[in-house]
Amino acid sequence: MRSFVLNDFIEYDPQLRVRKPILKVPTVVSEIVCYEPGQSTATHHHPVQDEIWVVLEGHGEIWVGEERLAVEPSSMIFIPAGLRHGLVARQDSRLVLLFIKSPGIPEAVSSAAPSGPGSTASAVLPTPASKLRLEVTDIQTEARDVLQVELRASDGGELPAFEPGAHIAIDLPDGKIRHYSLCNDWRERDRYVLGVARSPQSRGGSLFVHQGLRKGMTVAAAAPRNGFPLDASAERYLFLAGGIGITPILAMIRWCEANGRPWRLAYAVRSAQRGAFLETLSTIGGGSVHLHSDDRESCVFDPIPWLAGAPQGEHVYCCGPAPMMAAIKKAAAHRDPGTVHFEYFNAPTDDAHDGVANRKPFTIELKRSGRSLAVPADKTVLEILEQNGLRVVSSCREGTCRTCETGVCEGTVEHRDYCLTPEEQRESKTMMVCVSRAKSERLVLDI
Ligand code: FES
Repeated sequence: MRSFVLNDFIEYDPQLRVRKPILKVPTVVSEIVCYEPGQSTATHHHPVQDEIWVVLEGHGEIWVGEERLAVEPSSMIFIPAGLRHGLVARQDSRLVLLFIKSPGIPEAVSSAAPSGPGSTASAVLPTPASKLRLEVTDIQTEARDVLQVELRASDGGELPAFEPGAHIAIDLPDGKIRHYSLCNDWRERDRYVLGVARSPQSRGGSLFVHQGLRKGMTVAAAAPRNGFPLDASAERYLFLAGGIGITPILAMIRWCEANGRPWRLAYAVRSAQRGAFLETLSTIGGGSVHLHSDDRESCVFDPIPWLAGAPQGEHVYCCGPAPMMAAIKKAAAHRDPGTVHFEYFNAPTDDAHDGVANRKPFTIELKRSGRSLAVPADKTVLEILEQNGLRVVSSCREGTCRTCETGVCEGTVEHRDYCLTPEEQRESKTMMVCVSRAKSERLVLDI
């Protein structure tokens, strides 16, 4: 027998939650974790270990699957293997938890569950690459309702490189995955800088960043990806940004300046106070910056004069809200489509694909298990997978973020997303299962 005085393991660190192992034997492991106010454990799951949390001191909030729960001293929570869960200490309270996991075998904490035949937990697909652990090292107000957030590797190491236009997908402590463009210099390897606008339509992501994210917290994130790459062969660049769409554009402008490329920017905002990174833009110099403020000019931004006068060798990069993107698309209809590039952060509201009448049913076959599932006209592939116990990692659920990208082995895809390039859509090696459908009667997916 062994006995322990739990109070001896309690220790806090203002920078990071403190984990102190207590016991580790083949059948069970246990540890004490101490959180300062606002510190958190990001969403994760244990593929084979059941877990028990006992709250020894303090208050916080936990989420297990879809369920959220306030916890207080003496609470005990059981989390079965495979269920995604996370926790945050209340802003006004420290929190001390005793964790007990069984079996006690060594196991990597993962954001993915096992997949394929024989899995006991429901599968999470596609399997994400191993995540980065990032610490929030600075948060500043950049403009009205816009925060600038700086993230660094929590171990102080070098971060994976990124290109102008790239974004990172962050696991927020409430279990959601959100994508944020990187706006700092692509040559910096010690930090990622994001601009995050508070969205009135927030489904939790921007609201959490504005209200819950604090300096010192750690978050998990996937390595940067670039769905909005800059064509380095262009002679010159026209950037059209709306609202928080300035973030990937800012990184592109830094690249233009470093490489001596001519550029011009039209930046549309609802009011001048909402214009983010204006000071940074003024110090970058080089190209011309036109700020359009709806309230000052009593009208929305008109892209026609900008595109009418754009020489053919100029590549156009656009990122902004859906109505602005639709207006730009219309105004750019006369141009070579290969010279006009879009990054959507929400799907157009006038999508011609919308409406069940435009959809037909089809069948998906899951290559790894051999299962066949019918996808009716009024359901998406993602919904059908979820209904059948296959939990797919998703975020926007409207074809803009690329989180649910899934391999396609056979069949013809009807791409309805806003994130694959025209070339990727032609190749059809993958599809966004949240929106895309099949032109053929059957699709074989790499699941
Ligand atoms: S969940 Fe964002 S593209 Fe499917």
